[in-house]
Amino acid sequence: MVLANFMERSMLPEQYKNLSTAEMEDRIRAIKQKFGDTLLIPGHHYQRDEIIQFADTIGDSLQLAQVAAANKKAKHIVFCGVHFMAETADMLTEDDQVVYLPDMRAGCSMADMANIYQTEEAWIELQKLFGDTIIPLTYVNSTAAIKAFTGRNGGACVTSSNAKTLVQWAFTQKERLFFLPDQHLGRNTAFDLGVPLEHMAIWNPIKGELEYDGEDIEQIKVILWKGHCSVHEGFTIYNIREVREKHPEMKIIVHPECSREVVALSDDNGSTKYICDVIENAPAGSSWAIGTEMNLVKRLIATHPDKHIISLNENMCPCLTMNRIDLPHLLWALETIDNNEKGNIIQVDQKTTAEALLSLERMLQHS
Ligand code: 13P
Ligand code: SF4
Repeated sequence: MVLANFMERSMLPEQYKNLSTAEMEDRIRAIKQKFGDTLLIPGHHYQRDEIIQFADTIGDSLQLAQVAAANKKAKHIVFCGVHFMAETADMLTEDDQVVYLPDMRAGCSMADMANIYQTEEAWIELQKLFGDTIIPLTYVNSTAAIKAFTGRNGGACVTSSNAKTLVQWAFTQKERLFFLPDQHLGRNTAFDLGVPLEHMAIWNPIKGELEYDGEDIEQIKVILWKGHCSVHEGFTIYNIREVREKHPEMKIIVHPECSREVVALSDDNGSTKYICDVIENAPAGSSWAIGTEMNLVKRLIATHPDKHIISLNENMCPCLTMNRIDLPHLLWALETIDNNEKGNIIQVDQKTTAEALLSLERMLQHS
């Protein structure tokens, strides 16, 4: 019954399936005009162009969380991104501000790699091994329940833009970090801050056990959840070799959700915003291979015709879940609001919100 309701709420109604692009765009424009600044459409950089054209604010996860926390005017926030971002926006906004996700199926495969039951189980086992020496840090790409777990255990959220600062802060609090759910962001960030790979272990949530090759677990400083982004893990050292061979002049820049090997062989790495800024400020005529989500890479190619830009992996697909938000779903979400109907609302319960805010606010303080 619950599943049936969810499926029903997720299904695009028939009347939105065969509209022309021009008609959908006109109707979206009309609603935006009608609602003015009581409607806010945040758009993540990885969204399709057809959506980005209607975004009031475009940013990476950190920027969009900051915008949500600061905005007090919008009564309706139609979040064009993925589920965990809309949950974060809901928790950071006031009770009378409603957050909507145009397609409820727009999740994140990385966030789905960690659930709260596995997390609680891991915590119990890690406490047995290490006692009270660990602080949890969760990438915002996680459920509200995991953010709440992190908050009540003294930890913080991080995004790829502030991970270094938060990891540094976390080491002032405790001797060890438990970083979830992205092993790559955790490993790359800790490594850049001087933690040797031999001092990092992996928590395998499927087996419920610690994976560590070393002899003395006392040496472990960082415990990485065994999760990853299926988009960024698609960039390989073979892609790097190919680019180096075909375009020796090219600089390679990648997102830190890529594997350690890929990051190590690249010329530079950083968050989505960092990548956008580097390309923006690069001299005309410079050449770049970018290892991040395809909608963004294509947009960077289109907006910087004076630079030679390619994807590090030309066969890479866009993030499938980000891509679920399209014109028909955006129009549907907006017309649901306009018709005073309830639909596609993201609402985190009060207890989870209160605890998750502890971790989100610690993150925002250190950003
Ligand atoms: P950032 O927006 O923090 O760079 O994260 C990238 C990402 O994968 C979002 O889902
Ligand atoms: Fe999740 Fe990766 Fe898609 Fe971001 S790009 S939403 S981390 S699957």
